[in-house]
Amino acid sequence: MPAEQRAILDTINDKYDKDTDPSQWTARFEKEGREVRDRQVEILGALAIEKGTTVADVGAGTGLYTMPFAKAVGPAGHVFAVDVKAYFLDHIQQRATKAGHEHVTPIKATSQSVGLPTNSVDLVFMCDAFHHIEQPVPYLASVHQALKNGGRLVIIDYRRGLEGTWRYGHIRATAAQFLAEFEAAGFHLEREVDLLEDNFFYVLSKG
Ligand SMILES: C[S@@+](CC[C@H](N)C(=O)[O-])C[C@H]1O[C@@H](n2cnc3c(N)ncnc32)[C@H](O)[C@@H]1O
Repeated sequence: MPAEQRAILDTINDKYDKDTDPSQWTARFEKEGREVRDRQVEILGALAIEKGTTVADVGAGTGLYTMPFAKAVGPAGHVFAVDVKAYFLDHIQQRATKAGHEHVTPIKATSQSVGLPTNSVDLVFMCDAFHHIEQPVPYLASVHQALKNGGRLVIIDYRRGLEGTWRYGHIRATAAQFLAEFEAAGFHLEREVDLLEDNFFYVLSKG
């Protein structure tokens, strides 16, 4: 990986060590004006999640997507909420219990592995999360292993934008460069959903 990208990744998750109160993050992740929150209904519509399936919300944060996924798959399905931070997982567990979603399981990932069982998931969903993965090569291999044959990997993440902007310094690569990483890991671009402005939206198959 180029040194510039490695330097961005070296500090990308520091803020999650500094501020460990989930309510602070809820105020940021679930606030109006964040595209992936404002367009959530359309994003969920594009995913067309079926009842009884297993979905992994990877880099789940406060559970913005975990909760609607739990509703979409229903009690016959399953949702894994995956994060590296225990305080996010505890928060999601409490939210799920309060909502009566017993089919949500928190999973603690590492920088190198998603931590999911082999061949267990129909859909891995990563929203505003892939650019936080510090060791993308082994991590993508673990995602590939976790997906069932015919499973999908959905990546929604910021377009890098112009040099000099905040996003350029935070997002280490362009959408095209990220796609090359997914393809190198054995994924195949099924379609790009033309829905969002700030973010790209890739639907990839296990290849
Ligand atoms: C910007 S937040 C996105 C949260 C949520 N997906 C959303 O869109 O509201 C990025 C999340 O990725 C998590 N994260 C960082 N490294 C991770 C890893 N290796 N595996 C899983 N999650 C990770 C962070 O703890 C954080 O919750």
